[in-house]
Amino acid sequence: MCGIIGYVGYRRAAAVGMNCLRRLEYRGYDSCGAAVITNGSITVKKGIGKIDELNAALHLDALPGHTGIFHTRWATHGGVTVENAHPHCDEEEQFSIVHNGIIENYVQLKERLIAQGHIFSSSTDTEVIVHLIAQYYTGNLREAVLRALHDIEGSYALGVIAVNHPTTLIAARHESPLIVGVGDHEFFIASDIPALGSETKKIIIMENKEVVELTPESAEFFSLDGKKITKNHQVVEWDAQSAEKGGFDHFMLKEIFEQPRAVEDAIANRIEDSCITLREELPGLDISSIKRIIIVACGTSWHAGLIAEFMLEELARIPTEVEYASEFRYRNPIIDRGTLVLAISQSGETADTLAALREAKKRGANVLGIVNVIGSSIARESDFVLFTHAGPEIGVASTKAFTSQLAVLYLLTVYLGEVKKVLPIDQIRNRIRDIRALPLQMQRVLHLNADIQEIAKKYVKKTNALYLGRGINYPIALEGALKLKEVSYIHAEGYPAAEMKHGPIALIDEHMPVFVVATQDDQTYKKVMSNIEEVKARHGEVIAIATTGDEEIGKKADVVIRVPKNSYILSPLLSIIPLQLLSYHVAVLRGCDVDRPRNLAKAVCVE
Ligand code: F6R
Repeated sequence: MCGIIGYVGYRRAAAVGMNCLRRLEYRGYDSCGAAVITNGSITVKKGIGKIDELNAALHLDALPGHTGIFHTRWATHGGVTVENAHPHCDEEEQFSIVHNGIIENYVQLKERLIAQGHIFSSSTDTEVIVHLIAQYYTGNLREAVLRALHDIEGSYALGVIAVNHPTTLIAARHESPLIVGVGDHEFFIASDIPALGSETKKIIIMENKEVVELTPESAEFFSLDGKKITKNHQVVEWDAQSAEKGGFDHFMLKEIFEQPRAVEDAIANRIEDSCITLREELPGLDISSIKRIIIVACGTSWHAGLIAEFMLEELARIPTEVEYASEFRYRNPIIDRGTLVLAISQSGETADTLAALREAKKRGANVLGIVNVIGSSIARESDFVLFTHAGPEIGVASTKAFTSQLAVLYLLTVYLGEVKKVLPIDQIRNRIRDIRALPLQMQRVLHLNADIQEIAKKYVKKTNALYLGRGINYPIALEGALKLKEVSYIHAEGYPAAEMKHGPIALIDEHMPVFVVATQDDQTYKKVMSNIEEVKARHGEVIAIATTGDEEIGKKADVVIRVPKNSYILSPLLSIIPLQLLSYHVAVLRGCDVDRPRNLAKAVCVE
C-alpha cells in the first residue's frame, strides 16, 4: 500500500509534492515524510500521523529544493514508527527512496548487507533497496538502481534521489501502480492520476519492470535490462474539482450525494433508444460461448458481485458464482473457455483481485473488468473492461463506486440477456425504463438526509448491530453492516434474514438495533415481515428500510425509512443509500475520522 509522489523541475518540490501527496492519503495515513535535495545534501523530514497534522508540526511543504520525493504510509513491514516512515536513506545519506510494495526477499538481502557493513535504521523491507543502490553506485544513478532492482523480489513503485544528481529523479515500477506526469519543464511521479490534480493532464503510465530517469528537461524510459524504450504520453480528462470536498464536510458524504450523477454517468452513452449498446466496448467478446460466469472481488465490490449474481441468473439466465478474490486461488477452480470471469474493483489495484484475474487468465478464461480507475492494473490486464465512470472516490468507505458498479452490472446483464435472446424486447424496454428512473429516485432518498441524521443520534452509543435482508437484499445487509463497522467501529453483522433463527437470534434483546431491508417485492417481503415479528418478540429494536406507501410496516418496526419503488433487481441501489447515510452520521457523531478510518486504506495493494 502507501502513496508516493516525486517532483523534478524548477518549482519548490516540497510545496508541489506535499499538495499532491494529500490526494494519496486514501492509500494509507499512519505516517508520512519528504526528502529534498538542497545545497549538496538530502534533507529528510518524517513522522507519525496524517499529512496535515504532520505538516503543521514539521512544515514539510516549506522545505527548499527543486527535486523531492514524498510518501504516505500504510504499514506492512515494520510498525508505525518515525524510523519506519519513508523516505529512507543509506547511512551516508547520499541516496533516498520512497517505495510502495513489498520486497519479499528483504530478510536475506538485509542479512547480506549487514554482513557487508551496512547499518540499518528501520525495520522496513524498503530500506534494503537504498542500501543496495548505495552499494552499486559508481557514478551512474540509473545503473545503480537497475542493479539493485535485479536483486530484489516482490512488488515496487519507487522514487529515488541522490546528492550527486540534484536534478534527477529515478522511478521504477513492478506490480504497484505508478504514473509519470509531464509538465512544462518539470516531471512528476505519482501512485495514481488524480494525485496530480490540476498540475498536468499529460500522463505516461509505467508498465511492470520499467524504469524512468527524469530531469526537468527529459524523461527517458528503460527496461530492467537497461534497454531504452519509447513511451508516449496520453491526455487524461480529469476534473480536478471532483477530487475536492465541494462544500461537504467529508468526502464520504459528498460521494454519497454524488450517486445519482454517478449512476447517470455509468449508463450515459450505453443506452440508445431501447437497446443497450455495449458492443463497441466489448469488441470480440463471444457472448454465445459464455456458459458460466465467475465473479471475483473484495469487500464492497464483492457485495456488488453478490447482487450481480441475482441479476445475471434472473435476467440473462447464466449460471453465476461469486468468489472472494483472496480465496479463489486456494481452491482448484474449474475454468474453461466457456467461463467468463468478472473482476470488480473500484481502484483496479486490489492485489487479491488482480491475482485472481491472473489465475483465471492462466486457466483460459476471458476476464471482463468492471473498474472505476482508468489506467489501473486490473483495467489494463483484463481482456475487456467496462469503466464505471463514478469519478474519483476519495473517502475510504466505498459508496458511489458501489452503486455505479451495480448500474454497469445491470446494463451488462440486460445486454447479455438481449444478445442471448433470453430477454424479450418489451422486457428490455421495461428494464431500461427502470434504470433511467433511478437517478431521480436516488435523489429523493438523499432528501431524507436530515431525518437520517436525527435517527442516527439514537445509535451512537451502541456497541453492536445486526443487519438483515433476504434475496437480493441480503448483500445490502452485508454492505450496510460493513459501512457501519468500518467508519464508526461499531461491531455490525449482516445476515440473511431467515438464517437469523439458526443462531444470531440469541443475540437479540432490547439493546440490539436490527436494521432490516424490507422493501416490497413479490419475492421476499412477506417472509421478511415474519422475521421482523421474530425480532420484536425478543424486544429487539427494528429499523426498517421500506417502500414508500407501505403502511403495514409502520405497525411493526420502531423506525421506518422509506425509499421509492423500483424493480426488485434495482431496489438495492435505493435501499443502500439510507444505510450509507446512517453509518456516516453515526460515525461523525462518535467523532470518527470517516474519510480515513483507522487501519484501512483505499487501495489494498497487498495480498
Ligand atoms: C469498503 C471498501 C472495501 C473495498 C475493497 C475492494 O467500503 O471500500 O471493502 O470495496 O477493498 O476495493 P476495490 O473495489 O478497489 O477492489
